[in-house]
Amino acid sequence: MKLTGNTIFITGGGSGIGRGLAEALHRRGNKVIISGRRKQNLRETLDANPGMDSVVLDVNDPQQVKQTVDDLIRKYPSLNVVINNAGIMLADVAEGEINDELLVSTVSTNLLAPIRITSAFVDHLKKQPDATVAYVSSVVAFVPLAITAVYSATKAAIHSYAMSQRYKLRNSSVEVLEIAPPWVRTDLMNSREEERAMPLDDFIAQTMKALETATTEVLVEVAKPQRNNPGPKEHGFVNQFNDMFVAALEK
Ligand SMILES: NC(=O)c1ccc[n+]([C@@H]2O[C@H](COP(=O)([O-])OP(=O)(O)OC[C@H]3O[C@@H](n4cnc5c(N)ncnc54)[C@H](OP(=O)(O)O)[C@@H]3O)[C@@H](O)[C@H]2O)c1
Repeated sequence: MKLTGNTIFITGGGSGIGRGLAEALHRRGNKVIISGRRKQNLRETLDANPGMDSVVLDVNDPQQVKQTVDDLIRKYPSLNVVINNAGIMLADVAEGEINDELLVSTVSTNLLAPIRITSAFVDHLKKQPDATVAYVSSVVAFVPLAITAVYSATKAAIHSYAMSQRYKLRNSSVEVLEIAPPWVRTDLMNSREEERAMPLDDFIAQTMKALETATTEVLVEVAKPQRNNPGPKEHGFVNQFNDMFVAALEK
């Protein structure tokens, strides 16, 4: 993806990875519009980055999504990049009764919303000389983390959807990218101080580098073993990965 001269919409841009990407892209001279539900986060991000714009949006509200996308296209006719970053991650109990609210909100935020948002933008994007749709998935799309089974399933699903959409758009001006982060220090699962997670600044720097040449997936170095997992040995790898995780939690 070219990293300058774009008009970029990023969901969940008021915190964590979304804010990091928004700021890095803003510094490169792109016009960046962020969204989220928490006005305070949006305000703080805008104050720190003069020239950036924001819109309040709950990605789980289909009518609000449609209205907001229409408004954005009207206000920013050259909008050519959509980064679907908003997401939630909650611990669940695949071995027991799944909380229905968790199930619906996770599938809605991580799977239905990025599909809806992209779908509302796609005809506009096809009219741009070059355009990008990016989905922020996760390495757990490739190696499920059993303590967040629903979350992992939504990320595997968005990986699948991105591949289908990339294929369908292969003869258009729209490229479809998937950014699959490893564990990164953000508020997700209270990981901001987590030593085992990748520092956010390092993640953003490596991701920006990878974005320059990416045509399909955007992976930082430590994410590659997990991304390369699927295949005939996948089941052994899943057990090993989860055993390691459980052992670390029990320490
Ligand atoms: N951190 C990691 O270890 C990691 C690893 C792999 C993948 N990821 C993915 O990276 C993405 C960003 O997560 P993060 O780590 O940066 O955590 P984060 O700081 O909690 O960011 C999540 C963002 O999503 C927004 N969001 C959540 N629900 C929303 C809704 N209904 N409507 C609108 N916005 C909503 C939040 O904004 P509001 O609450 O203000 O709405 C927030 O800005 C997520 O898709 C996550 O799954 C993270």
